[in-house]
Amino acid sequence: MINGERSIQRPLRWGMVGGGRTGQVGYKHRTGAQRDGTYTLVCGAFDLDAARGRDFGVKLGVDADRCYADYKELIAKEAGRKDGAEVVSIATPNFTHYEIARACLEAGLHVICEKPLFFTVAECEEIERLAEVKGLIVGVTYGFTGHPLVHQMAAMIKKGMVGDIRIVDLQYTHGFNAGDDVGAGEAVRWRTNPKTAGPTFVLGDIGTHLYYLSEIVLPHMKIERLLCDRKAFIATRAPLEDHATVLMHYDNGARGRLWVSSVDAGNMGSQRYRFVGSKASVEWSDSHPDQLIYEVQGQPNQIMHHGMPYLEKESLAVDRMGALHTEGLGDSWSNIYLWIAQAIDAKRRGDDAFLKTHHYPDIKAGTEGVRWLENCVRSADAGSAWIDFK
Ligand SMILES: NC(=O)c1ccc[n+]([C@@H]2O[C@H](COP(=O)([O-])OP(=O)(O)OC[C@H]3O[C@@H](n4cnc5c(N)ncnc54)[C@H](O)[C@@H]3O)[C@@H](O)[C@H]2O)c1
Repeated sequence: MINGERSIQRPLRWGMVGGGRTGQVGYKHRTGAQRDGTYTLVCGAFDLDAARGRDFGVKLGVDADRCYADYKELIAKEAGRKDGAEVVSIATPNFTHYEIARACLEAGLHVICEKPLFFTVAECEEIERLAEVKGLIVGVTYGFTGHPLVHQMAAMIKKGMVGDIRIVDLQYTHGFNAGDDVGAGEAVRWRTNPKTAGPTFVLGDIGTHLYYLSEIVLPHMKIERLLCDRKAFIATRAPLEDHATVLMHYDNGARGRLWVSSVDAGNMGSQRYRFVGSKASVEWSDSHPDQLIYEVQGQPNQIMHHGMPYLEKESLAVDRMGALHTEGLGDSWSNIYLWIAQAIDAKRRGDDAFLKTHHYPDIKAGTEGVRWLENCVRSADAGSAWIDFK
């Protein structure tokens, strides 16, 4: 169980780019990062509007002279300080991730970046090489994958409790973009423009969460082929999609289907994961994050609760609240931040043995998300054809 005891040598000096007062995701970074005392927020370029960013940073408790106008000033000024930032989180719109990440790494800063990581796999691989040369960590905030019951599903499948996986059923849909974008705010405007969002809208915005979580649960399975059908129900979003379905063929013969949409009118935003094996199925949804449904063919269904002693050790190890107390998304984010901090700490100490076995959403995980998107777009652009997964 995680209880806030220090698991790294000392807190990391941490800065943020983006995630300002009006940003949707910034607070999740801060609650996730600061909860266990593993990160101390020392600086930021929080906002495109420099004055608002400074005011916001000061109210977060950051020194005014360390609230910078932009990431370039942050890097230049922090590099000159003995107590300068050593890791920076990037919580800005997608099109800025690559240039900010590259600049941070070149300046010797570890990076924690939002998904979808960059626009292309080529960019991801270049950043991976740069991080390797510089001896730095790149983490990606696939925030949902710290949930203890996600790790319970993985452990049960690894143990054979579900049998051979046959069907992978993934859904992340909501209805927040069911209407048109007239008068839409900044967060919708950049998400629906290929110049600022990249080659996808909902596939990258929420589909990458489904894909990474399924990789965590099914590390032994790889996609061999996929077919992606995508559509913009609101025409102004084309060529990007507000709805997509992806069929996937895995190397063990399993079949997958993934539905991602922001025009699922009335749906308040839920993710559902169902893994069907030859003996049983497991299902988890973030609408009921404390419960895992385990259905063995021919037996009464079971609902497993987080924190209970009957769970696998992998799940109990990352539980924070204990049974009866709900495990929320903040807990999941805290685990993601903790795992990345442990990687940075090990990198600083040169502990390669630890890094070899330590799992966190790393640069490769970010790259795989972008690779999956590239394959989806290639399939959709080829007339929703089956293509080999590359
Ligand atoms: N991991 C998750 O669960 C999750 C959830 C939501 C968003 N995201 C991702 O987080 C990123 C940001 O999304 P959002 O919804 O918070 O966007 P947003 O538009 O709500 O907020 C963006 C924030 O970044 C600031 N900003 C923009 N450009 C900047 C720059 N160049 N320098 C400094 N600050 C800048 C803005 O002022 C704002 O504060 C996106 O990549 C998105 O895909 C991830």
